[in-house]
Amino acid sequence: MSEPKRPELKRLFIETYGCQMNVYDSERMRDVLTPLGYAVTERPDDADLVILNTCHIREKATEKVYSEIGRLRAHKERRAGEGKGMTIAIAGCVAQAEGEEIIRRAPEVDLVVGPQAYHKLPELIARVARKTGERLAADFTAQEKFDALPARAPDGVTAFLSIQEGCDKFCTFCVVPYTRGAEYSRPLADVVAEAQALADRGVREITLLGQNVNAYHGAMGGGVASFAELLQALARIEGVARLRYMTSHPVEMSDDLIALHGDEPKLMPFLHLPVQSGSDRILKAMNRKHDGAFYLDIVSRVRTLRPDIALSTDFIVGFPGETEKEFEATMQLARDVTFASAFSFKYSPRPGTPAAAMMGQVSEEAQNERLKALQALLWEQQRAFNAKQVDRVLPVLVTGDGRMAGQKHGRTPYLQSVHFADTQARNGDIVPVRILASAQNSLSGARAALEAA
Ligand code: SAH
Ligand code: SF4
Ligand code: F3S
Repeated sequence: MSEPKRPELKRLFIETYGCQMNVYDSERMRDVLTPLGYAVTERPDDADLVILNTCHIREKATEKVYSEIGRLRAHKERRAGEGKGMTIAIAGCVAQAEGEEIIRRAPEVDLVVGPQAYHKLPELIARVARKTGERLAADFTAQEKFDALPARAPDGVTAFLSIQEGCDKFCTFCVVPYTRGAEYSRPLADVVAEAQALADRGVREITLLGQNVNAYHGAMGGGVASFAELLQALARIEGVARLRYMTSHPVEMSDDLIALHGDEPKLMPFLHLPVQSGSDRILKAMNRKHDGAFYLDIVSRVRTLRPDIALSTDFIVGFPGETEKEFEATMQLARDVTFASAFSFKYSPRPGTPAAAMMGQVSEEAQNERLKALQALLWEQQRAFNAKQVDRVLPVLVTGDGRMAGQKHGRTPYLQSVHFADTQARNGDIVPVRILASAQNSLSGARAALEAA
């Protein structure tokens, strides 16, 4: 008797740009396509289906997408010559913002799908395969998306978990409220169930995601759960050893959330809290709803409860109208806080946002100079923060094998990457590691005696 012939595996290549929410979404897209016979490949040239999960936050991010589509065109033509197809799908925030323009500019793109519609991918891809061509306006609600996606298949001991979509803050420079839509929080029970499922599959550390993650207000019973209440519910899941969250908005740092940084041992001592600028006038023009003093006050309250916390932030330099003096206020804020890590960007005008139409756009040259000065300061602060860990024994979550034999790789509570000498630890263990050396972006060390952690 012959075995029934198995359908041939189709190859799926996903390229992810932008923020962690896209990383999470890419995973979910993979999971929705796996049951249809797709297996992930690392090579775009031999893929039956290519998905570019795109980012619209700055001009450069958007331009990358068009150059990547250009590269894919050659692969698609070559495969056509070999009698094989290649479906090209554009997902993410550029798809949402410029869907129709992509279809116009890039004839090789078969499908454009916005962030709220990923659960429709199987149906959309089937339609494309029937050669009808398709363009999708993402007018589905976020709730529908989360409900319709299948259970997750995590591939490590750390995982992202999106708990909130969209943003209602409308900072004047930012496209997110337009690309991700209105703020929506998932019900508490759904988040807890997903976290439990991740824990059951070996995940030890969960990073909760949302563009304003600490504004979370999900349905719970007949009422509403705050973000602090959600964190407490998740901390009760036994297998979950570590919780993190990003990205937070300063005005949403509630008293109970700040208190948790002192009280909840599973909440890791790391806080990404974007400030954008140190100048009160610029913060106002950005519509950030907080000033420098408000930010410094949160920092001091968190540090009082958790003195060792690693603080991280985002800065924009050269916002329209920013003077040298106002930029100096940003430098001063960075000196006052001292960050463990930070991202800094040159302001990039985004179509349709209020700041793009503001007077006094700052020259590229001045932007470059300011960015250079700020980054030099931030790099120094990061280096110093890493150096402070030398000689300490830190509890490290083992995430994989190290670069060399006899080495493991892991994560400190402060989100630093560390390579350390050890042969016994298994992925998912949390082991004491003595830090022996530090560099700009990582640490190295050796497994310490057990009682020392
Ligand atoms: N929701 C987060 C961050 C969203 S985008 C928050 O509220 O802070 C990530 C970062 O990109 C922002 O913090 C900001 O520093 C940067 N960014 C957003 N729009 C930008 C623009 N038009 N030009 C340059 N940087 C930008
Ligand atoms: Fe963008 Fe501001 Fe919303 Fe953050 S809070 S996503 S910067 S609009
Ligand atoms: Fe980019 Fe969209 Fe994230 S614009 S930063 S991928 S929400």
